[in-house]
Amino acid sequence: MENKQLGATAATLVPLAPKNGRRILFFPYPQQGHISPMLHLANLLHSKGFTITIIHTNLNSPNQSDYPHFTFRPFDDGFPPNSKVSHLETLCSRCVEPFRECLAQIMLSDHTAPGGERESIACLIADVSWNFLGAAADNFKLPTIILRTANISNALAIVKLPHFIEKGYFDHTIEGSELKAAVPEFPTINFKDIRKTYGINPKAICETLTSLLKVMKATSGVIWNSCKELEESEMQMICEEFPVPHFLIGPLHKYIPGPASSLIAYDPSSISWLNSKAPKSVIYVSYGSLSSMDETEFLEMAWGLANSMQQFLWVVRPGSVRGFEWLEALPDGFIDKLDGRGHIVKWAPQLEVLAHQATGGFWTHCGWNSTLESICEGVPMIWSRGMMDQPINARYVTDVWRVGIELEKGKEREEIKQAIRRLMVDKEGQEIRERSSRLKETLSNCLKQGGSSRDSVESLVDHILSL
Ligand code: UDX
Repeated sequence: MENKQLGATAATLVPLAPKNGRRILFFPYPQQGHISPMLHLANLLHSKGFTITIIHTNLNSPNQSDYPHFTFRPFDDGFPPNSKVSHLETLCSRCVEPFRECLAQIMLSDHTAPGGERESIACLIADVSWNFLGAAADNFKLPTIILRTANISNALAIVKLPHFIEKGYFDHTIEGSELKAAVPEFPTINFKDIRKTYGINPKAICETLTSLLKVMKATSGVIWNSCKELEESEMQMICEEFPVPHFLIGPLHKYIPGPASSLIAYDPSSISWLNSKAPKSVIYVSYGSLSSMDETEFLEMAWGLANSMQQFLWVVRPGSVRGFEWLEALPDGFIDKLDGRGHIVKWAPQLEVLAHQATGGFWTHCGWNSTLESICEGVPMIWSRGMMDQPINARYVTDVWRVGIELEKGKEREEIKQAIRRLMVDKEGQEIRERSSRLKETLSNCLKQGGSSRDSVESLVDHILSL
């Protein structure tokens, strides 16, 4: 059956499937890039007849009014509500006890669905970043399914990290042009990518990262916000490495349109400004919810954008330029001199921006959500810098799917100007745009009836009902 409700907001959705008497508990990690895919997944499973409870920290708590069809169970993590997300291990150690108590209260209470029928709890779907999950859920014999909000390639790189360290891939014996050579055990990526991903002291994070992945081995399944069409060979490798059921059901944000529980208020002028622009004439610039930069990099970006003579919509999060509140580092009159070619906002409705007919390119940090969102709208990308999973995502964008270009140095105005013109004006950009359109079509097909992700959702539903 076609979803007749597409176009409705999540808040107004009535589930298409009848209630199945099973409740799913969700436990998102409190960062924007993790909360959004988890809530999209909750909406999707709600539409399949499950009742939903969201367990969450006070820190970065989701906007409940967007989801009146869910039950929310906050617990006190001890952080002031608007404090910055802390170090993963600190956050986990603060949350372990309150989470256990919250889970116990839920498990020991009477379960009645909104219509009054009795229901049972099917499973906990949690973000992989919570390092205490197994023990907490085992007390109640509650099956746990993991949601990985990053892609499979990154999980595979983590699996191989101890080996990379042992082989000396982070040593200074590999330098200069050798850094661009393919890593023998993972030829899609090069030595530079793994240096950028894990930094100069990978040993310090190796244990944390690999132990989080080991959790996956003991779970009842892993859900990926990715799809077979993007990561087919990676999917086979991960199934061998982690012999539990894997469900590639992404891109999650495309099933049910609706708000993505934004932690920051959207600036509506993003869309009104775009409305006055010609098709594909604007480059959208955003580095996601976490990254920051110094003043020099910020100014090089500003001048690179201005000198490209292209129109741009630029998200500069307050506090993301170190040492400044917002735009104070810009030279006096910078915006006025652009003659309307540039618009800067604190936070934009990114899904709408990428889907807007005026958006012709996306200069991104290649966070996995931004990457998927851009692919889904057929918007070609520029990548210049990043950390964690982003350099590997970017390698796939530029060299595997070939829907973007890389700014090698990334911090110099002349290179920035050239890259923007290559993407927005040159023939090279036109070719990338055509590949982006084809990839958009591929992803759209995997969500249709009979498509790989759609089928995988059905398998996931059957799996949860069998637990
Ligand atoms: C982080 C990591 O960087 C990312 O690589 C990982 O996969 C998840 O956690 P983040 O850096 O915030 O996330 O990047 P990204 O994954 O792209 O998520 C950002 C989200 O914020 C996107 O869903 C995007 O639509 C949204 N966003 C961003 C807005 O809604 N408005 C903005 O102005 C900017």
